[in-house]
Amino acid sequence: MKIAIGNDHAAVDMKLGVKAHLESRGIEVIDMGTHTSDSCDYPVYGEKVGRAVASGEADLGIAICGTGVGIAMAAGKVKGIRACVCSEPCTARLSRMHNDSNVLAFGARIIGMEMAKMITDAWLDAEYEGGRHQRRIDQLMEIENR
Ligand code: RB5
Repeated sequence: MKIAIGNDHAAVDMKLGVKAHLESRGIEVIDMGTHTSDSCDYPVYGEKVGRAVASGEADLGIAICGTGVGIAMAAGKVKGIRACVCSEPCTARLSRMHNDSNVLAFGARIIGMEMAKMITDAWLDAEYEGGRHQRRIDQLMEIENR
């Protein structure tokens, strides 16, 4: 399993913590930056994560900014990406099971490191259920073609 991870300046420390956590689970991490606390623009990094997942370079993506909102919006603009912002594990789990989310976002200014790890684990440990959800996913992705 390969995960692309990206962040803006607000989330460098959280990114490093999540990255170490993923690696401790045996997951290969592709770090798309940013790597410093110099001010930068979250759309750049959200798009990088989205493109890595959409192209198949990574299986899934994790995107972190101050709130998680801007970087999720950016990742979600890439065709094929279903990004969600989660501040607790239940939404993260259901976003995989029902919405087949492929990019997880959260906010380094909103949640703490332990919650970030719990959300990440809940998301990774859940599986897409398919079935009745597939029709809705198809409808969702069809919007990209209109
Ligand atoms: C950067 O100050 C902040 O706006 C950004 O990290 C994020 O919260 C945007 O959604």
